[in-house]
Amino acid sequence: MNIKRLVDLNLKDKRVFIRSDLNVPIQDGKITSPKRILASIPSITFALQKGASVMVTSHLGRPEEGKFNDNDSLKLVVEFLKNHLDYPVRLVSDWDSKPFDITPGQLIVLENCRFNIGEKRNEEVLAKKYASLADIFVMDAFGTAHRKEASTYGIAEYIDIACAGILFLAELEALEKALLNPSRPMIAIVGGSKVSSKLSILDTLSDKVDQLIVGGGIANTFIKAMGFEVGSSMYEEELVPAAKKIIDKLSKRGASLPVISDVVCGKKLDANERAITKNIKDVSQDDMIFDLGKDSVDEIVKCIHNAKTIIWNGPIGVFEFDQFAKGTETMTKAIADASAFSLAGGGDTIAAIEKFNVANDISYVSTAGGAFLEFAEGKKLPAIEILERRF
Ligand code: 3PG
Repeated sequence: MNIKRLVDLNLKDKRVFIRSDLNVPIQDGKITSPKRILASIPSITFALQKGASVMVTSHLGRPEEGKFNDNDSLKLVVEFLKNHLDYPVRLVSDWDSKPFDITPGQLIVLENCRFNIGEKRNEEVLAKKYASLADIFVMDAFGTAHRKEASTYGIAEYIDIACAGILFLAELEALEKALLNPSRPMIAIVGGSKVSSKLSILDTLSDKVDQLIVGGGIANTFIKAMGFEVGSSMYEEELVPAAKKIIDKLSKRGASLPVISDVVCGKKLDANERAITKNIKDVSQDDMIFDLGKDSVDEIVKCIHNAKTIIWNGPIGVFEFDQFAKGTETMTKAIADASAFSLAGGGDTIAAIEKFNVANDISYVSTAGGAFLEFAEGKKLPAIEILERRF
């Protein structure tokens, strides 16, 4: 892949515009997981150390364009950066109407780019305004690489130099290693609530993997496709044929979907609900499946131990409630112990990794959610396309 790299450029006295993905979860006025900010810091400090004047921007949430709202402001992100950088940092909101000063070694954060009219539609006027601010554009927001917006794509058309940042390239390298050049056996674990949101990735992965492991609501649709009952569990009736096709495709290739023999049920989704393990054949009308049972999880653990490459997106049970967390916990710890190259991505996956405290034992934890899935589906991400074109 031919892409210019930030680390190869002469940045002295240059104005550098970095698009990061600082879209972090915030609750009650606090950042609950700063992972994306921490992952974005290396490119920022690299540019500052090399003597550049640095502007960074990001989206936060999905605000309405043209309307400022305090909840989606980057001010908490800026506070975080102030506490983690040895450089002066300031937030600039009105960069479009008022000229601002910036000198080498200074960092300016431009307010949430999704407040700007034309950002989502990748309007040329806005893209050109961004481009006029700097000499070099650094795309470091891998989590937003699947969006064709003015700050992720348009700016790269009009600026002198467009390159990839340190995080962007690390993400790309990890995804390519796991998905394009995997050591085998290769397994993928796809959990989460709905097949519909992950049908495309399930379909693509079923052409590649040696074993496909499904969990969460997705597993319920597959359990139905295997001919068992799921009681009152969430599943997607209309996608049962698609699940059957995936199972057939796997078996024709000599690949497999590990057997689900037992499940953990409750009658309603509640923090105090009693968990009952049942044989898959004994699930009754009013049961809801909230986790996989021990025998099913043991099968998954065996696959994990044999694997050389593990791709993981999504939990296999309702791990937010302890009585339904055992399956996800056991699986997460098995991935952490495995000798395979393990790649994990997606918001819920990161939450599980944090809950079971194994971040240092996963080979690569991606900051990306949607971009991770689209890359795994084999789609060309717009940010990669434009960076290659501008090489
Ligand atoms: C994400 O959270 O996946 C990225 O920051 C992209 O956000 P978006 O889906 O709002 O574009």
